[in-house]
Amino acid sequence: MKNQIKKIALLTSGGDAPGMNASIRSVVRACVFHNIIPVGVYKGYDGLIEGRFEEMNARSVKGIINKGGTILKTARSEKFKSKAGRYEAYKSIKENKIDGLIVIGGDGTFTGGLIFSEENKFPVIGIPATIDNDIFGTSHTIGFDSATNTVMNAIDKIRDTASSHNRLFFVEVMGRDAGHIALNTGVAGGAEEILIPEENLGLDRLIQSLKRSEKTGKSSSIVVVAEGDKTGENVFHLKEYVEKHLSNYDARVAVLGHMQRGGTPTCFDRVLASRLGVYAVESMISKKDGNMVGLQNNKVVLTPLKKAIKGVTKINKELLKVSDIMSI
Ligand code: F6P
Repeated sequence: MKNQIKKIALLTSGGDAPGMNASIRSVVRACVFHNIIPVGVYKGYDGLIEGRFEEMNARSVKGIINKGGTILKTARSEKFKSKAGRYEAYKSIKENKIDGLIVIGGDGTFTGGLIFSEENKFPVIGIPATIDNDIFGTSHTIGFDSATNTVMNAIDKIRDTASSHNRLFFVEVMGRDAGHIALNTGVAGGAEEILIPEENLGLDRLIQSLKRSEKTGKSSSIVVVAEGDKTGENVFHLKEYVEKHLSNYDARVAVLGHMQRGGTPTCFDRVLASRLGVYAVESMISKKDGNMVGLQNNKVVLTPLKKAIKGVTKINKELLKVSDIMSI
């Protein structure tokens, strides 16, 4: 089939994630390979509205596969939430003779992309990139593997000082509404307890579990808490509650914060980003827009953006069971 796509714009939006640059590199080089002009849009949807476009080539993306962050910058655009803002963006797209748009980000990014696509009957394809791994239709989002390794290494360091002082540490990790980072890094970091938004077993069960750990001779403990967890009011409240009810515990809090979003992407994330970038461009060429590219059973697949946005990722119950057994 003759390719009618001559120019593809690409942007990154929402919270940045390690591997975003690898996906930018892949989209750009796949475009060049297919004789399509890649056009980078700076600062996400705000840049689309402002027409902050720059034609790119294979050399524009040299030396970035191993860099965290995004060379195209990112933003959470309030303006793009309005029809007027999206109309400005569409005018920019038409003025620059763009034939398709690839958006790299999370569910908020895809929501904006889908509305824009439907309003203007314009081809949009999504590439899932967020450390939260909370996008339906893919086993892995770009950035999740890198973030979990960053968190695991931080927990290992915290465990050194926790065991030196016989302390209990509450380690808060990111994951706005999802406990995937907390669950995986809790198991990998050997946490005694993992608190996630998907499962609230209550403060008393936490106390019982810590009492049991103490009885089995544990002199220090790590509790990994997802930022969206609702067991307590927040991680500091959890610390106070435990110190009040378990006088033997000397507790501290470590909030890992935005360092989880940085750092060089892992091999897994670089390969994932490279595969999804190529698949996004080739799906655009074969007019399979309106979809998100993703990984299922290690195969690249398409999921309608509508489903990717509405779908809810499930917490891995088998992993929850493993974490309970490991903390005996
Ligand atoms: O969506 C990714 C994420 O890192 C969440 O885990 C976190 O809650 C949020 O972004 C933080 O947003 P911001 O960078 O705007 O503070």
